[in-house]
Amino acid sequence: MSSKQERFFSHGTIERNTGLLLILSILVISFAGLVQIVPLFFQHSTTEPVEGVEPYEPLRLIGRDIYIREGCVGCHSQQIRMLSSEVQRYGPYSLAGEGVYEYPFLWGSKRTGPDLARVGQRYSDEWHRLHLRDPRMVVPESNMPAYPWLQRNTVEGMDVQARMRALVRLGVPYTQEQIDNAPEALVGKTEEDAIVAYLQGLGVSSRAAAAEAMMSAGE
Ligand code: HEC
Repeated sequence: MSSKQERFFSHGTIERNTGLLLILSILVISFAGLVQIVPLFFQHSTTEPVEGVEPYEPLRLIGRDIYIREGCVGCHSQQIRMLSSEVQRYGPYSLAGEGVYEYPFLWGSKRTGPDLARVGQRYSDEWHRLHLRDPRMVVPESNMPAYPWLQRNTVEGMDVQARMRALVRLGVPYTQEQIDNAPEALVGKTEEDAIVAYLQGLGVSSRAAAAEAMMSAGE
């Protein structure tokens, strides 16, 4: 460095002053983040539901809560990436618009087990019940834990209406009629019924639209 006095914002000054370095780093990272994140709020492909995507029916909504409670997301992702190996194994890759009613989203990042984004209708309800009660019954080499209590717990008392009202505040378009009728859908149902209903719907109604989007992107 010459004998000239250093300018305040010179590299040297910033590197030697941790407080200043910290503040400037935060500014730069925040700006870079905003540039990436803000436009997403205005892109239809990320804010509007893909054709076929509907808000969760009451029983599936409860099933989803049980999925969260049991920590399934710790071993299962719900996001098929745009790699041909993934598409061949799991089906059309996930679109942002398939997740517009996901609060909180369950994309996950850990895959001890397979991705579940399109597991719906791949197995029978009976398969899922056996698999949840004891995974080794249907997949001998499985290291998935068993969830035998789900078949014994009822979901009747769960306040599904409060959940739906909370989601309405976040922008999920449930009608008043759907909310009024919701408790009826839980009558006589167990946690296992709810989680099986949830799993059987995963990725099903939007599958055709996702396949179409994938085909047209590939052209
Ligand atoms: C400790 C990790 C772990 C946890 C926690 C876990 N799983 Fe699994 N899961 C696996 C593994 C490994 C497999 C693959 C072997 C098998 O089919 O059992 C699997 C397979 C599955 C499959 C079959 C997927 C397919 O395409 O064949 C479903 C459905 C499933 N799990 C649902 C669940 C649900 C629901 C929960 C929570 C109640 C859960 N899993 C919790 C590890 C886990």
